[in-house]
Amino acid sequence: MRHLIGIEDLSVAEIEDLIATAEDIIANPDKYSKVAAGKKLATLFYEPSTRTRLSFEAAMMELGGNVLGFSEAQSSSAAKGESVSDTAKVISCFADIMVMRHFKEGAPMVASMNATVPVINAGDGGHNHPTQTLTDLLTIKCEKGRLTNLTVGLCGDLKFGRTVHSLITALSRYTGIRFVLISPAELTLPEYVKSEVLDRRGIEYVETTSLDESLPELDILYMTRVQRERFFNEQDYIRLKDSYILTVDKLSLAKPDLCIMHPLPRVNEISVGVDADSRACYFKQVLYGKYIRMALIKMLLEEAAK
Ligand code: NCD
Repeated sequence: MRHLIGIEDLSVAEIEDLIATAEDIIANPDKYSKVAAGKKLATLFYEPSTRTRLSFEAAMMELGGNVLGFSEAQSSSAAKGESVSDTAKVISCFADIMVMRHFKEGAPMVASMNATVPVINAGDGGHNHPTQTLTDLLTIKCEKGRLTNLTVGLCGDLKFGRTVHSLITALSRYTGIRFVLISPAELTLPEYVKSEVLDRRGIEYVETTSLDESLPELDILYMTRVQRERFFNEQDYIRLKDSYILTVDKLSLAKPDLCIMHPLPRVNEISVGVDADSRACYFKQVLYGKYIRMALIKMLLEEAAK
């Protein structure tokens, strides 16, 4: 049974195939409107979500399938003490594919070991978020025309930002990628991502605290929210939450073809004035997310039928 727990579960060739399918869905949506007819997708969300859950639901509906699920742990049997492994066995009786977001790192992996249908990780604690990464890759491919030879700035909470960890892991497999890691000293990229991904693959990167100094050289700027829910101490969050704010003025330092991305939700880190700039790609990114999730559901349902 194929699952998607970490982005490395997909080969580069499979990612290229998913991107090609998503591009074809964008061009010919009608062709795909019955791909999941008669199938059910279960969404198991133990943590808040707007985009990811609704984008999976919209994706399944546009493939002609149905959805069921829960959007908070308190309304599920988790509130009675049911384990993730038991829930995965139970949901396998109702659905053909399941999507899980959980506050505990590794929970979707546990689910995949107990499910008899494909499991997709929709974010596990501060660890990974592979379908956001597929979204980000499709966005970069469509907006920049390539996934190679890019200077990619990642800014904000690089410690707890799971989207950052998965995106770095994915982009490190392409040639000519250079990372500029912009964060406060307390929120730098975890050592395991540096040693197991960047150092192991010999990827060029710099760590800095300055967004202003980094902006002129970037092809992509990936802004992130400081992840309040992962802090032990509210005072630390308050001190760090506004470390970086991208404003219209600051953008005068950037390349004219910069691509500004954000997995959303935005708090303060991009001022609303930036939205009107042609370089702002974060709302288009949301739409790309639906198309790549359609491609992913199609692929996993086909694999499961083999
Ligand atoms: C991200 C997440 O959940 O990690 N949101 C999303 O899925 N688009 C980013 C975030 O919450 O900051």
